[in-house]
Amino acid sequence: MKFATKAIHVGQAADQATGATIVPIYQTSTYTQTRVGEHKGFDYSRSINPTRVALQDQLASLENARFGSAFASGMAATAAVLNLLSSGDHAVVTDDLYGGTYRLFSRVLTRYGIDFTYVDMSDLTAVRAAIRLNTKLFWLETPTNPLLKLIDIKAVSALREKQQYVVVDNTFATPYFQQPLSLGADIVVHSTTKYIGGHSDVIGGVAITDNPEIHDVIKFHQNSIGGVPSPHDAWLTMRGAKTLAVRMREHAKNAQAVAEFLESHKAVERVYYPGLASHPQHELAKRQMSGFSGMVSFVLKGSAEHALDVASRMKYFSLAESLGGVESLIGHPDRMTHGSIPKEEREKRGITENLLRLSVGIEDIDDLIGDLRSALETR
Ligand SMILES: Cc1ncc(COP(=O)(O)O)c(C=O)c1O
Repeated sequence: MKFATKAIHVGQAADQATGATIVPIYQTSTYTQTRVGEHKGFDYSRSINPTRVALQDQLASLENARFGSAFASGMAATAAVLNLLSSGDHAVVTDDLYGGTYRLFSRVLTRYGIDFTYVDMSDLTAVRAAIRLNTKLFWLETPTNPLLKLIDIKAVSALREKQQYVVVDNTFATPYFQQPLSLGADIVVHSTTKYIGGHSDVIGGVAITDNPEIHDVIKFHQNSIGGVPSPHDAWLTMRGAKTLAVRMREHAKNAQAVAEFLESHKAVERVYYPGLASHPQHELAKRQMSGFSGMVSFVLKGSAEHALDVASRMKYFSLAESLGGVESLIGHPDRMTHGSIPKEEREKRGITENLLRLSVGIEDIDDLIGDLRSALETR
């Protein structure tokens, strides 16, 4: 089966009990047993629920893997994967990453005796230098958030020793444009809140692997900690994911046009988009991704005040946290998504007050560019 077919068919056979073509929302916490311990494979919905199983199978298939574990949020999926580590372990982490992931690592997991080193993972020498005897995990986000730098998944995976895990947060690229497991990674994590759900109406996360031992550990923690999605949320995410292929093609087409427009505009200092020939890692992007997704970041000339004005002046780009929905969003990483990273760290990483981040939606491109033009040119 090809990608778009899997999105619509895997895990989604007609319901055995009723013939319902669409997987039902099994809104039940428990299941009636015929005798003690005799049941149909379902006993309690924190442990297993048919709607969640369907979603897990659908999403695993999109990453060409056998095992998926769905969670109530991307952060719950990330936390579950970090349960592979124990006190005394160390992880090497990309220094340009989602602020909430940084907060979980630096303010929660360090209290449990896990150490993190943040490096520019686009620099393999820096990655090598950060490895310690107790390094257990590499955490990659590529393209990174919000500066859209790329990390060579294959090259980092080649550094991995036995008993180390390479994890890729594939939220920005989606499995439609990037398949980390085929490049050597062990685990893929998504905030399904973003492109996979695709309609900004449900929070969720997933951890996917093709390794049965890793899956057993993640599944054990999914059940032990219990951060699972409700059946309704699992169903909404599954419905969104059915159209991932068509949506991603439109997101990428619009984002390319927006990036080219911004690059040619005199009010703009710099544009970050892997699909631009001017992106320093455009060649790696072409090798590693089959398309460049829908996120564009840019730096405006002028004062920080001006950048804040532009962000609040848009008509179709809603000023909002998050990304990946059909509707366009604009954000100010310094004050919004990345506010949980200390100011001096943000500046060191290039997250300045003049940086704006766009999640380019699938509205008509003429309207999107018209909106940007009028916001940039109104004084
Ligand atoms: C790249 C990335 N990973 C993980 C997360 C966390 O996901 P959630 O908000 O679903 O917990 C986000 C949220 O913005 C994100 O952008």
